[in-house]
Amino acid sequence: MKTTLAALLLAAATLPAADLTGNWVVAQPQSDGTSRNTYLNLKQEGEKIAGTIRVSQFFYSVKESSGGPETFTLNASLMDGHSERRTTYTVRLAGDELHVSAAGRGGALGPDMVAHRAPAGEGAYPARVAPPSLHKVPYNGLAKTPPMGWNSWNKFHGRVDDASVRSIADAMASNGMKAAGYLYVNIDDTWEGTRDAAGNIQSNKKFPDMKALADYVHSKGLKLGIYSSPGPNTCAGYEGSYGHEEQDAKTWAAWGIDYLKYDWCSARNLYTDEEMQAVYQKMGDALHATSRPIVYSLCQYGRAEVWKWGPEVSGNLWRTTGDISDRWQSMLGIFDKQNVLTGYAAPGHFNDPDMLEIGNGGMTDTEYRAHMSLWSILAAPLLAGNDLRDMTPSILDILTNREVIAVDQDPLGKQGRRLSQSGDQEIWMRDLTGNAKAVVFFNRGGDSAKMTLKFSDAGIKGEPKIRDLWARQDVAASNGEFSATVPSHGVVMIKLSAGQ
Ligand code: GLA
Repeated sequence: MKTTLAALLLAAATLPAADLTGNWVVAQPQSDGTSRNTYLNLKQEGEKIAGTIRVSQFFYSVKESSGGPETFTLNASLMDGHSERRTTYTVRLAGDELHVSAAGRGGALGPDMVAHRAPAGEGAYPARVAPPSLHKVPYNGLAKTPPMGWNSWNKFHGRVDDASVRSIADAMASNGMKAAGYLYVNIDDTWEGTRDAAGNIQSNKKFPDMKALADYVHSKGLKLGIYSSPGPNTCAGYEGSYGHEEQDAKTWAAWGIDYLKYDWCSARNLYTDEEMQAVYQKMGDALHATSRPIVYSLCQYGRAEVWKWGPEVSGNLWRTTGDISDRWQSMLGIFDKQNVLTGYAAPGHFNDPDMLEIGNGGMTDTEYRAHMSLWSILAAPLLAGNDLRDMTPSILDILTNREVIAVDQDPLGKQGRRLSQSGDQEIWMRDLTGNAKAVVFFNRGGDSAKMTLKFSDAGIKGEPKIRDLWARQDVAASNGEFSATVPSHGVVMIKLSAGQ
């Protein structure tokens, strides 16, 4: 009897208990041919589970585990040192499968996903490569005036593909946009495929032949832009350029790429803000080494006072804020961060308050006219973010107002500044070549407002010639000042030049 009990106890103790230790992968195939993989690298000790979880660009560490012996709850938090994002995973072993569900931001998994065992090391986060020491990357000679063109993100997000880029290029070349100065057709995130055996980046199924696409865009007299990240993944979780900087720059040059937007994204898992300059310098050097003229657009949301070092890494433009959205408050929030940056714009190097939302439907035409005017007084890049194949005449008119564009593109490259503010009304002024000035009367209030500029307050002597840039007509001044009735959420924009 005694012996039997002892034997039973021994047998129970040696029964293979559920052990979740191992590297598990949930593969989620995408229609573009890429796979979104989540790796759970777990180590079980008794009823405690530790480890890391990588959801493409998001890297979590398991902070607590509870439950068992079959079903465990893992509380994991993001390991980027910036945010407190937490996700709760429920995991249950069933035979050779691990059933996983996730709750919380960044979980990216459905309610009951199946993970399979993956080879040890697969999906592990790459080791950190120390950033290079700082030096000045030679200026590439580009973007003497703010870049103009189109970018896919605001309207298309992940839906951009070869056919849409071609038809956008067709539209741009024929509808007056190109004639008005729009030149770059920029593919944003989600074009990336996997790397080949030699590590060369390939485009995914949505872009069967990037070189052919570049040839096509060039045949329209336009230029082609692309997107990547200094981190292992882009913001949408696709392949980034980490560890392949020179190789990718060479690939893009061979394809005929003319513009790169380089987006920090997952680089934050490996580098601090203080290291950003060195990390961006690496790609600046790589682009320089290709000898192809490639506009270099830094996208790191205005962190680390990028305007102070952007030119050092040969950046032609740098984002100054987080992402714009197609809402009046979003556009305003970004605009309100620009006045302090006035001194940092110059030919070749511009502050980038993000792409235009004009025509995307979330604002009125009056508000879009304000958006266009404010971006132009700021000497901001003009990257249309709407569907150029399908615009109302009014939106096309806003985007192609030559006189407003001439302000944006003024060769002095000087960013405007706020001259005065009174409640909801602001007057902005920008110096132009030939001692001319552009002025925006901006009314953010809910009612139209009469606004007045005394020329002496703007440092203008005598009576200037005045041109209303939206009415497209000359107007008369009286007694050393100009007054206008400015619509709610709107602008009046004028150009002042020496009187005749
Ligand atoms: C970031 C950028 C956006 C866009 C997306 C793409 O959010 O700021 O402009 O490029 O990534 O994933």
